[in-house]
Amino acid sequence: MAPRVRAALGKVERHRLVPADQANLAYRNHPLPIGHSQTISQPYIVALSTDLLAARAESRGPRGRHRVGLPGRGARRARQQVYTIEIVEALGRTAESRLGALGYKNIEVRIGDGYKGWPEKAPFDGIVVTAAAPRVPQALVDQLKPGWPDGDPVGERWEVQQLLLIVRKADGTVEQKNVLPVRFVPLVPGR
Ligand SMILES: C[S@@+](CC[C@H](N)C(=O)[O-])C[C@H]1O[C@@H](n2cnc3c(N)ncnc32)[C@H](O)[C@@H]1O
Repeated sequence: MAPRVRAALGKVERHRLVPADQANLAYRNHPLPIGHSQTISQPYIVALSTDLLAARAESRGPRGRHRVGLPGRGARRARQQVYTIEIVEALGRTAESRLGALGYKNIEVRIGDGYKGWPEKAPFDGIVVTAAAPRVPQALVDQLKPGWPDGDPVGERWEVQQLLLIVRKADGTVEQKNVLPVRFVPLVPGR
C-alpha cells in the first residue's frame, strides 16, 4: 500500500463515522451496520480501493488536484475535491453532518442515484463504487477522464462479485482487470 494512503487512513476517525452503538467496533476489519439495511465497508476494502486510485494517480505524474467521484461512498481524507452520492437520504444527510463535524471541507454530498454519476461535476480523475452493480454502469465510465480508474464491484447479490479496476482509454473503450472477489450490498437503481 502506498505510504501516503496508509498514513491518511491511519488518521481517519472511523469511530465518528459509525452509529454510536458501533463505535467500539469501528476499527475491526469487517463491515458494520449503519442503519437502513446498509453497512460501512470494512477498512481493508476502503484501503484497497483508495490505494488502487492512488497508484494510478502516482503513475500519471506529480500530485495535482484531482476530482474524485464516490457513488455510495462515505468519507475519505483527500487533498482532492471529492464528490459522493448516496441514495438513502437519511444516510447521505448523516454522512454530510459527520464529515462537516470532522472538518472535511473538500467533500460534496449529493442525495441521488449513483448509477447516473454526477455529470455536472465530471470528468473525474477516479471513481470508487461501494455497492455492487450487475454490470459496470456506463454513465460512470463516460464521466471518467481518459486514462483514469474506476474501482467497481460487479455481480449479483447472492453470487461471487468481483472488484474490477476499469481504466477508460482515450477512444472510449475500457481496460478491465479483476482485483479480487468481494461481497457488497447491491447498488440499487433510483426511481
Ligand atoms: C457498502 S455501503 C457503503 C457505505 C459507505 N458509504 C462506505 O463507503 O463505507 C453501500 C452504500 O451505497 C448506497 N447505495 C446503494 N445504491 C445506491 C445508488 N444507486 N446510488 C447511490 N448510493 C447507493 C447504500 O445506501 C449504502 O449506503
